Amino acid sequence: MKNSFIKDIAFYVPEKILTNDDLSTMMDTSDEWIKTRTGIHKRHSTGDSNMGPADLAVLASSKLLKKLNMDKSEIDFVVFATSTPDYYVPGSGALFQEKMGLENIGVLDIRQGCSGFTYGLSVADKFIKTETYKNILVIGSEVQTTQLDYDNDGRGTAVLFGDGAAACLLTSTNDDRGILSAHLHSDGRYIDDLSSSHPSSKYKDIITKENIKDRKHHIHMNGREVFKHAVRRFKEVILEGLDYNNLSVDDVDMVIPHQANYRISQTVQKQLDIDQDKVFSNIHNYGNTTAASIGIALSEALEQNKINKGDIVVLASFGAGFQWGSVVIKW
Ligand code: ACO
Repeated sequence: MKNSFIKDIAFYVPEKILTNDDLSTMMDTSDEWIKTRTGIHKRHSTGDSNMGPADLAVLASSKLLKKLNMDKSEIDFVVFATSTPDYYVPGSGALFQEKMGLENIGVLDIRQGCSGFTYGLSVADKFIKTETYKNILVIGSEVQTTQLDYDNDGRGTAVLFGDGAAACLLTSTNDDRGILSAHLHSDGRYIDDLSSSHPSSKYKDIITKENIKDRKHHIHMNGREVFKHAVRRFKEVILEGLDYNNLSVDDVDMVIPHQANYRISQTVQKQLDIDQDKVFSNIHNYGNTTAASIGIALSEALEQNKINKGDIVVLASFGAGFQWGSVVIKW
């Protein structure tokens, strides 16, 4: 059987920066509150550019292909993870394909919120291990800032999120390396603790003026509940992945957690009793970029030479659903 490994990864964030001070002019918040509670200093935003996740993904993927010196015709399949799709129908994968000029290859959309990247890698891994495809582009891309409620009512959520995209090439190899395991979970009892319910096909009008007045098209979050479950599930699913591979926390060289909140990462690091420099964090610069965050973090960890060949790297996610997962990789 073949193995699958991440040959390279690149990311793109829009130029416009939203600082905590910028947000303080839009709602009753402060730089100090945001930094202390979340670790976030700034985030990037598409602003008024009308760029969607497919546009950001094209820029990240073009960077990746340039780094790899690879022609787009060598890509066999695309997995596109986003929770903020360009269209209601079809998924952003189809828009991405058209914008990239990828001819008639399959594209698959993943709607798993912050767990989109781990779910996406897991699916791509299976296609490679079954020798269906050799080169799969796995993308996490989000434009969150256009759907946030930048009002006092939404301040507990709006300060967290930012826009960005990451794209990696998952490639087939005969070498003893790459994705060792993926463990995925969900618990739909908590849907209402983190969701954006409209537009919804349940209702005749899909989206009404009343729904908009009630702010149902914005994401709503019960922050404390999310926090509580996140710290539990991150630890659990990381240990599940390690156990499956007969590895212990001592064997881990780097954990790349979904960048939800710096305090969540710190709590998980303490619970696992792992060195702080083995839990990568870049949330201060980007905020929570949902499906893109693990890819952006992995990309920066590689740029900073924090991951070497043969290292055990654990990607871990938790988000809306709730849905969570881990991917253990021998780099
Ligand atoms: N600025 C100033 N004050 C605020 C803000 C703000 N932006 N937001 C909330 N507050 C106030 C609250 O109103 C509250 O005031 P009160 O005490 O007078 O009632 C006070 O600050 C404390 O609020 P809490 O919600 O208890 O603050 P907490 O310390 O829990 O931090 C946070 C909130 C940052 C949201 C935290 O709960 C958290 O990080 N939760 C997890 C978030 C997360 O990981 N989300 C993942 C999303 S991923 C996806 O799948 C889309």
